[in-house]
Parts: sequence; structure tokens; C-alpha cells
Amino acid sequence: MDKNRVLITGGSRGIGKGLCDAFLSDGYEVLATCRDASQMSSKDKNLIYESLDISNPISLEQFKSVVDDFKPSVLINNAGITKDNLFLRMSDEEWTDVLNTNLTGTFRVTKLVAKLMLKAKWGRIINISSISGIMGNAGQTNYSASKAGMDGFTRSLAKELGARNITVNSISPGFIETDMTKGLIDENLIKKIPLGRAGQVSDIASIALFLASEKANYITGQTLVVDGGLFMK
Ligand code: NAI
Repeated sequence: MDKNRVLITGGSRGIGKGLCDAFLSDGYEVLATCRDASQMSSKDKNLIYESLDISNPISLEQFKSVVDDFKPSVLINNAGITKDNLFLRMSDEEWTDVLNTNLTGTFRVTKLVAKLMLKAKWGRIINISSISGIMGNAGQTNYSASKAGMDGFTRSLAKELGARNITVNSISPGFIETDMTKGLIDENLIKKIPLGRAGQVSDIASIALFLASEKANYITGQTLVVDGGLFMK
């Protein structure tokens, strides 16, 4: 297995796009997924876009042959959504959509890739969870549950796959400037962040590159909080 092939879900914008740029610059071949690849164009021969809706089992089934051909050595489960609402107002649909995308989508994509990594006896799985899954956030019971679930998934899978030289870790971002956090980052929030600023996608991409590299050979089952110090245990 080539150790420089990365599959990044939700690569069209935000953190996912930042991950694509960083891995390309580091010499990786990148397979980036987005819900409609016909909207995306790549000038770089090392970057391919493919359509995938991680919440849809049929779309995942269609995507299987793409994964089998590409044989990723690194998987980054980045695609995710929010549908915030106060608990008593939260509909079944808001709950299910978020769990189905963030947690079940991660489970399903990882299943496609883990089979290949097991055969190759090498792999890196990186799940983008969230500080919301650790510290909680009013209005985000669905999102927090999905992201805490991803951290638990990370630890259990790390125990299952460790013997085959496959590491599984989560990156838990704080507030990163992307479409998802538009309108959420204000002066009051910044005051609570010891490093005094919101995060940038590059702050997450550099940690993902580290976890994917041989430098992180002995790290597995961990959740790395990257939040400027917003939450400290
Ligand atoms: P974003 O909204 O800018 O991008 C999300 C990406 O996921 C998009 O490319 C979107 O097309 C894709 N996506 C959503 N649902 C999908 C589906 N069903 N199938 C395939 N792709 C789908 O969000 P952002 O900020 O870049 O977030 C990326 C990840 O980082 C998410 O998992 C998010 O929960 C997580 N995160 C973001 C934080 C932030 O402050 N921006 C903080 C903590 C975690």
C-alpha cells in the first residue's frame, strides 16, 4: 500500500478543503468527497473529487468501487452537519439527521476503508469530532451526542485495529472559522479562548498531517483537542 493516499470526506469547503490543500502540499494523492462532485473542478492531477452522501447507504454502496481502486492509506472522516435546536423543541428529524450523518456516516465510510487497511496491515484513521462532544453546548444535544459518539468509536476501533498497525484518533476542534460557525464567533466567545482568537482550518490541518505521518506511529485511540485552550480538563 502507498502510504500517501488520503480519502477526505466533505472536501468541498471549510476544514475539509483546508485538509485537501495541506495534504496535497505534503505530496499526498487526495480523493475528496462532496455531495455533488459536478460542482467541483480540480487543476491538480493529485486531487480527485467524487460524489458521496455519507448519510445515504445507496450512495455509499456506489462509492465502494472508487475506494477499492484508490486504496487510501489515510482516511479523514470530516463531513458533518449541525441542526441546532433547544432540546424540547428538537424534532426527531433534527436528531436523526445529525446522528445519521456525523456518527453513522463515519461508521459506514470507515467500514469501506478499514477492510483495505487490514489487508495492507497499515493505516491511519482520523475522525473530526468536536469540543461540543466533550464540554457540551446548549442547543446541540444532537450534535454533541454524535461527536461524543465519534470519540468513543475512535477508542473502541483503535483497540480492534491496533495489532494490524492501524491507528485511529480524533481531532476535536474548538471554534474554527468556516461556514459552519458563521455568526457564532463574537467578542464574548473570543474572551473565553486563552489564545485570544478563533481557530483557522490550517490549525486543524497541521494536526491531521502529524497524525497521518510516521511521527505519530505510537499514538492511537486519542482525542486531540485543538481549541486554543477553550476547554481544559
Ligand atoms: P462546513 O459546513 O463548512 O463543511 C462541512 C462539509 O461536510 C461540507 O463539505 C459538506 O458538503 C460536507 N457534508 C455535510 N453533510 C454531508 C453528507 N451527508 N455527505 C457528504 N458530505 C457532507 O463545516 P466545517 O466547519 O468545515 O466542519 C467540518 C467538520 O469539522 C465537521 O464534521 C464539523 O462538525 C467539524 N467541526 C467544525 C468546527 C468548526 O468550528 N468549524 C468545530 C468542531 C468540529
